[in-house]
Amino acid sequence: MGELLFVGLGLGGVQDMSVRALAELKSCDVVFAEFYTSKLADAELGELEDFIGKRIRLLDRVDVEEGEELLKEAKRGKVAFLSAGDTMAATTHVDLRLQALDLGIPTRLIHGISIFTACATSLGLQPYKFGRTITLPFPEKGFHPTSPYEHMLENKQRGLHSLVLLDIKADQKRYMSANEGTQWLLDAEDRVGGGLLDAKTVVCAACRVGSSTELLASGYPQTLLAKDLGPPLHTLVVPGKLHFMEAEALVKLAGAPEEILEE
Ligand SMILES: C[S@@+](CC[C@H](N)C(=O)[O-])C[C@H]1O[C@@H](n2cnc3c(N)ncnc32)[C@H](O)[C@@H]1O
Repeated sequence: MGELLFVGLGLGGVQDMSVRALAELKSCDVVFAEFYTSKLADAELGELEDFIGKRIRLLDRVDVEEGEELLKEAKRGKVAFLSAGDTMAATTHVDLRLQALDLGIPTRLIHGISIFTACATSLGLQPYKFGRTITLPFPEKGFHPTSPYEHMLENKQRGLHSLVLLDIKADQKRYMSANEGTQWLLDAEDRVGGGLLDAKTVVCAACRVGSSTELLASGYPQTLLAKDLGPPLHTLVVPGKLHFMEAEALVKLAGAPEEILEE
C-alpha cells in the first residue's frame, strides 16, 4: 500500500521547507506539485528539483481536482504533493485528502510557513486581532462581487484587521498586485459607500513575504497606488483598531504615516 504526503513548502526559497519535509521527499517514489494556488517567491521548479534530487510532475487545477494520476501513483508507492505556503491553508486540497482516505490510502500533512501568519507577523500585527480572511477576485465583465468588501466592513466594525489575499490566474500568469487590490477596494467603496476606506485610511502591502526581496509598505490608498511594489506575490492588510505597539510597528517596519501613533 502506498501513501500520500501533503507538503507545504513555505513562502520564500527551497530552504524554507522543513528538515522533515526534505527527508521525507528524498524517500518518495513520485513527487507532484501545484503552483496555481500560490508560488515560491525565490525559487522556480528546476531549483526545487535540484534541491530534493528528484523530478517533479507539475499539475494544473484540473489534474488536482480530478486527482486521477496522483491517486493512482499513491495507491502503489510513496507520493508527495507539494504546494507553496501551508498545504491546506486557502487551498481545496482537503478534497484530495478525503478522496485518498476513501480509497484506503493513508495520508499525512507536513506543514509549511503560511502567509496567514507570516503576513501579520512581518508587519508587527497580532494574528489574533484579525477577522475573516478575504480574497479579491480579478474584476471581469459582468462580475463585480461586493461580498469581499462587505466582509471587510464587518471586520472593521468589530475593530479587527482584514487579511486580503489577491487573485491568481496562474494559467494566464496573472497575479493581482497590491496596487490593483487597493484600486479594487476604492472602486467597491464608490459602489457600496459603506465607509470601509477613505483618503486617510491606512492600508498595508506585504510583498514577497519571507523571501530575499520582501517589501512591506503602509500608507494612505493614493500613496500605495503610486508605489512600485515589484513582482508577485502581494497581500493587503486593512488594519482595524491598532494597539499602540502595532501602530509603532507599522510606522517603523512598513513606513506608515506617523500620525497613526496619535490615534
Ligand atoms: C490562495 S492563497 C494560498 C496560501 C498558501 N497556501 C499559504 O499557506 O501561504 C495565495 C495568496 O496568498 C498571498 N501570498 C502567498 N504567498 C505570499 C507571499 N510570499 N507574499 C505575499 N503574499 C503571498 C497572495 O495574495 C496569494 O495570491
